[in-house]
Amino acid sequence: MKPPGRPLHFEYRTDADTNGGGMAADVRRGLQSDPKRLPSKYFYDARGSDLFEQICAQPEYYLTRVELGILRRHGPDLARAIGERAMLVEYGSGSGVKTRLLLEALIDPVAYVPVEISASALKQSVEQLAARFDQVQMLPLCADFNTRVALPTPRREPRSVLIFFPGSTLGNFEQTEALQLLRVMHDEMGAQGAALIGIDLKKDPAVLEAAYNDAAGVTAAFTLNLLSRLNRELGADFDLSQFVHRARYNAQAGRIETHIVSRVDQQVRLQQARIEFAACEKMLVEYSCKYSLPEFDAMASRAGLQVTRTWTDDDQRFALLLLRRGAGPASTA
Ligand code: AVI
Repeated sequence: MKPPGRPLHFEYRTDADTNGGGMAADVRRGLQSDPKRLPSKYFYDARGSDLFEQICAQPEYYLTRVELGILRRHGPDLARAIGERAMLVEYGSGSGVKTRLLLEALIDPVAYVPVEISASALKQSVEQLAARFDQVQMLPLCADFNTRVALPTPRREPRSVLIFFPGSTLGNFEQTEALQLLRVMHDEMGAQGAALIGIDLKKDPAVLEAAYNDAAGVTAAFTLNLLSRLNRELGADFDLSQFVHRARYNAQAGRIETHIVSRVDQQVRLQQARIEFAACEKMLVEYSCKYSLPEFDAMASRAGLQVTRTWTDDDQRFALLLLRRGAGPASTA
């Protein structure tokens, strides 16, 4: 533990433009395209992040609970498969309990590098973990994990790099983007490294649809909060009572598709523009892709990666996969 009163100090290395100035342009482009769409990454303002935490606790949203169960149950096995003295690189700001469980299980991890575009989320994540893991050097990196970044050099030399991407977040990327991200991982993990990725598995569509349409309406509030954010941050004038959340499973594409649907013909102001919505017009706001294990294997091999270990729950709802560089095609930028 840190001595009481000793201030925590971290170096924040910045590899990316973190001013978020891209949101207005992304939203304008998305609302003027046909069909309309908005990037799901903008869900996560302070209220959106809070609502997402609440989604994870809903009875229908099994993903978080099941993944935590896998981490708890298989922690020692996972740690043996990864090997000692890893440098843990997490894409995103650190998933709280999951990161803690992994750090507790790993054998003598040397450093923790969360890669996150939001400096405040980054700060919060490392401050909490530093208090618990004083032998693990905290090296937060303020950057967009979609782009290749130069990883920091920790004081103690790591034996390998472990990239951690839990929560089925890869499922929020379209196929081509997911493949690109796997290629980034391939390059960043180095010859001895690995990636530990959480994916949601294909299952009964009724179970999937329930997970994204919880009875308490938290997911609906999470989705519509995106419009509140645009009102507040971009001066738009969405009337939230005139839009609804809709999440359906597209079996052919293997994904939950979440839309915001306009109840009526209406006009919305966005800065200088006026955006027309027809009654029942839907705007795509999120994909949550579901995989079978063979499908994921095939995608990984296209990125030059091989799934070397798989841990799932008894009902095969969710999987944690360990990927290493394979004999397949080398990654291309
Ligand atoms: C963060 N991500 C993996 C969640 C998912 O399941 O796609 C986001 C979410 N959207 C609605 N509910 C949860």
